[in-house]
Amino acid sequence: MVFCGVNLNCQDIALPTPEKTGGKPLMQALNERQTTRTFTKDDLSLQQLSDLLWAGWGINRPDQKKRTAPSARDFQEISVYAALPGGLYLYDAPGNILKQVHNRDIRAFCGTQPFVATAPLNLIYVADLGKLGKKEGEEIKDAELFWSYANTGFIAQNVYLYCASANLGCVIRGLVPKDKLAPEMGLKSNQVIILSQTVGVPQR
Ligand SMILES: Cc1cc2nc3c(=O)[nH]c(=O)nc-3n(C[C@H](O)[C@H](O)[C@H](O)COP(=O)(O)O)c2cc1C
Repeated sequence: MVFCGVNLNCQDIALPTPEKTGGKPLMQALNERQTTRTFTKDDLSLQQLSDLLWAGWGINRPDQKKRTAPSARDFQEISVYAALPGGLYLYDAPGNILKQVHNRDIRAFCGTQPFVATAPLNLIYVADLGKLGKKEGEEIKDAELFWSYANTGFIAQNVYLYCASANLGCVIRGLVPKDKLAPEMGLKSNQVIILSQTVGVPQR
C-alpha cells in the first residue's frame, strides 16, 4: 500500500510499527550471533525491515529523540541507507519511513563480494559530517572519522543481534568500493561511507 502526504512521497515506504517486544532472549541471541555470507534470494518482509532498522538505529526514547545505539556526544551523525532491489532509501527513524533517494538497484556497487549484488538488502552507514559542521568541499582527515566508525559498530552489532533473534543472516563489511558507491548514492563530499552490512535469509 502506498501512502502519500506532506512528509511522505508516493515513492517512499511507510514502515509498519516496529515490534518492540518478543524475539529471542538476549543471551540466546548473543549465543547465535554470527556472520553469514550465503543468502537465498528471498526478500525481507516490511515488518522485518522495520524491526531491523529500529533495532539498529531506531528511536527508543522519543521524548529525548534518543536511539537504540549510543553515539559519541549524541551527535547522531550516522545516516542509514537501504539499498533494495527497487531502489535506494534513507531511513527516517522519527517518521518510521524509508525515504526514496532514487529507484535504481545499486546493490552491485555496495561491495566487491559476489553475494552483495543478489542479497535482498545492503545497509550503507554514512557519516553525515554536515551535522558536525563540516562544509562541502572541506578536507576530511581520517582521524575525524574515528567516532563515526565507533558509532557505526554499535548500530551494526544491534543489527547482528536482531538477525540472530529473527533467524536472518548478515555480514558487516569494510570491503566497499566507496569511490564507486558514493556517486551512485548521490552523496555530497561531507557525507562519508563508513561500512556496509548485507542482510538476508541465510542459505542453510
Ligand atoms: C569492521 C569489520 C569489517 C569487516 N569486513 C568484512 C568484509 O568486508 N567482508 C566480509 O566478508 N566480512 C567482513 N567482516 C566480518 C568478519 O570477517 C567476521 O566478523 C569474522 O570473520 C568473525 O566471524 P563472526 O562474525 O561469525 O564471529 C568484517 C567485520 C568487521 C568487524
